[in-house]
Amino acid sequence: MNQELWTAVDEYFTKAFLPSDAALDNVLQASEAAGLPPHHVAPNQGKLLQLLSQIQGAKRILEIGTLGGYSTIWFARAVLPDGCVITLEVNPQYADIATYNIARAGLAEIVDIKVGTAIDSIRQLVQLGVAPFDVIFTDADKPSNPEYLCESLKLSHPGTIIIGDNVVREGEVANAACSDPKVQGVRQFCDLISLEPRLSATAIQTVGSKGYDGLVLARVMY
Ligand code: DHB
Ligand code: MG
Repeated sequence: MNQELWTAVDEYFTKAFLPSDAALDNVLQASEAAGLPPHHVAPNQGKLLQLLSQIQGAKRILEIGTLGGYSTIWFARAVLPDGCVITLEVNPQYADIATYNIARAGLAEIVDIKVGTAIDSIRQLVQLGVAPFDVIFTDADKPSNPEYLCESLKLSHPGTIIIGDNVVREGEVANAACSDPKVQGVRQFCDLISLEPRLSATAIQTVGSKGYDGLVLARVMY
């Protein structure tokens, strides 16, 4: 098994299941031209996020980590009428690019980008007493994942799904001795999820155009 094969299979699935989409292609082009790190989800992963949100009947989605707004657009297209996506980005330059990309996709009305550290933004949402979210996607700096989980649980309701991106860390997630703060952040995130009695969760390893990685899926049960 190798990257070339994983990419070829992703191209096959993408061609089969995802109609060509100029708006999303534009986002990837604009994000690359602006020099953003290539950390956006793959097209077929974006579609998975959209389908999960639709299965959930989501009206309110919280995204932690906007980058260029690629997954944000998949979520914004998934929410029910009058729904919204609140997305958190620490880098003002990334937020500007995302704002542009989301507006160009015709979704500016649905998406609210909050610029600042994600933990400050989440705490502010908690303080404001906003309505809980139906889907929470954790896809920002991995060392902060444990704090994101603790705070975002305060913005959940029974039935909320929490998705965590990039939890495999080239397999190092299984290495308790690994000193990489991203690995430790993901491990603590997984530990906290497993210890939280309200959460029912699993994690899946994936391969594809984005390499070898994986995601955690948790549901708030009560
Ligand atoms: C990293 C972060 C991401 O959100 C991603 O999708 C891939 C990699 C990272 O920080 O390494
Ligand atoms: Mg990611």
